[in-house]
Amino acid sequence: MTIVVTGAAGFIGSNFVLSWLTHSEEKVIALDKLTYAGNLENLQSVEINPNYHFIQGDIADAKLVAEILDEYEPRAIINFAAESHVDRSIHGPDEFMLTNIMGTYRLLEEARNYFNTLESEHKNDFRFLHVSTDEVYGTLSADDPAFKEDRRYEPNSPYSASKAASDHLVRAWHHTYGLPVLTTNCSNNYGPYHFPEKLIPLCILNALNGKDLPIYGDGKQVRDWLYVVDHCKGIETVLDKGKIGETYNIGGWNEKTNLEVVHTLCNLLDELKPRDDGKSYKELITFVMDRPGHDKRYAIDATKISNELGWKPEETFETGIRKTVQWYLDNQDWVSHVQSGEYQNWLNKNYS
Ligand code: NAD
Ligand code: TYD
Repeated sequence: MTIVVTGAAGFIGSNFVLSWLTHSEEKVIALDKLTYAGNLENLQSVEINPNYHFIQGDIADAKLVAEILDEYEPRAIINFAAESHVDRSIHGPDEFMLTNIMGTYRLLEEARNYFNTLESEHKNDFRFLHVSTDEVYGTLSADDPAFKEDRRYEPNSPYSASKAASDHLVRAWHHTYGLPVLTTNCSNNYGPYHFPEKLIPLCILNALNGKDLPIYGDGKQVRDWLYVVDHCKGIETVLDKGKIGETYNIGGWNEKTNLEVVHTLCNLLDELKPRDDGKSYKELITFVMDRPGHDKRYAIDATKISNELGWKPEETFETGIRKTVQWYLDNQDWVSHVQSGEYQNWLNKNYS
C-alpha cells in the first residue's frame, strides 16, 4: 500500500512523513515543489528508507500528478502543499491563488480521474485528505465560543481566503463527483522544522542572535497552539477513522496571547541558554507596526474529533514548547542552513 503526501518537505508535511515512517510499512511518495518553504534537509533522516520516495513537482502540474497516481496507485492522497504564511500573502497574493486554489483544483481533478479507474474494492479504501486551517473561520472576540465545524467561513487574509476556496473545492468534488474526501481544519502548529518566518521559530532564532523580538500591535492577539506531532497524529486518525465528506477541527485547547507565547520562549531560553550579560531575553521584545487586517483571536473546539474518533493532543503547551526550544538549540546546522539569502530578503522586506 502507498500514500502520496504533497507539501512533504514543508514544516507539517515533513513531520507527518517522519512520524508515518516510524510506525507504518506503507510506502510514502513525497511530492513537493520545493519553494522557499520546502526543505529536503527535514527529510534527510529517511532518505535511505526504502519506503520513502521523493519527487520534486507542482500539485498544479496535472500531467505529473496523473503519472504519479498511475505509477504508484496510492490508497490515499494527503494534501499539505500550500503557500502558508499570512504576511507573505499580504505582500504578494499571487502564489497563494495559484497553489492553494488552482493547485488544489488540479490535484482534485487528477484524483478524480484516478479514482474513477479503480476497482470497487480499491474505491472503497481510497481517501483524499485535505489539510486546512482554522483561519478560514475568520476572527473571534474575547467571549465568543471556539470554532466548531459548522461555523460560517469568514476568511480575512489572502491566505485564509485561498484556503477557504480550496476547502470549498474539496467539498464540491465530494458532493458532485463522489470523491471520498476528508478535510481537517487545524489551529497554529509549532515544533521541529518550523521555518523561522513564523512567530515561534522567528523569536527563538532572533533571541539567540540578540535581535529584536517583533510583536505586532499590542501583542494581545490570541492563537490556539498545537504541537505539530499531535497534529500529525490527528491527521492519521482522521485518515483511518474519519467519515467520508466530513470535516474535523484539530486544536490544542491552548489559547495564548502572542505576548504570553513570547514571554514563555524568553523564560525557557533564560533557563536553557542564559545570555552572557545576565539579562533576560524579554529585554529584546519590541512592539512593531501591526499586520493589516490582523485577526484578533482564533480558538478551536476539537470536541468532534475527540468524541467521534478518540483523538486528543498528548502535549500541553508547556511540554511542547520546551521540546521545541530544545530542538532549535540542538539543531544549529539546520538553523544556519535555513537562514539563507531568501530568508534575509524576507526579513528585510517585512520588518524594515
Ligand atoms: P509550509 O509553508 O511549511 O510548507 C508548505 C510546503 O508545500 C513546502 O514544502 C512547499 O515547498 C510546498 N509547496 C508549495 N507550493 C507547492 C506546489 N504548488 N506544489 C507542491 N508543493 C508545494 O506549510 P506548513 O506549515 O507545513 O503547512 C502545511 C499545510 O497545513 C498547509 O496547507 C497549511 O495551510 C496547513 N496548516 C498549517 C498550519 C500551521 O500552523 N503551520 C496550521 C493549520 C493548517
Ligand atoms: P504566525 O506565526 O505568522 O501565524 P498566523 O498568522 O498564521 O497565526 O503569527 C502568529 C501570531 O503572531 C499572529 O497573531 C501574528 C503574530 N506575529 C507577531 O506578532 N510578530 C511576528 O513577527 C510574526 C511573524 C507574527
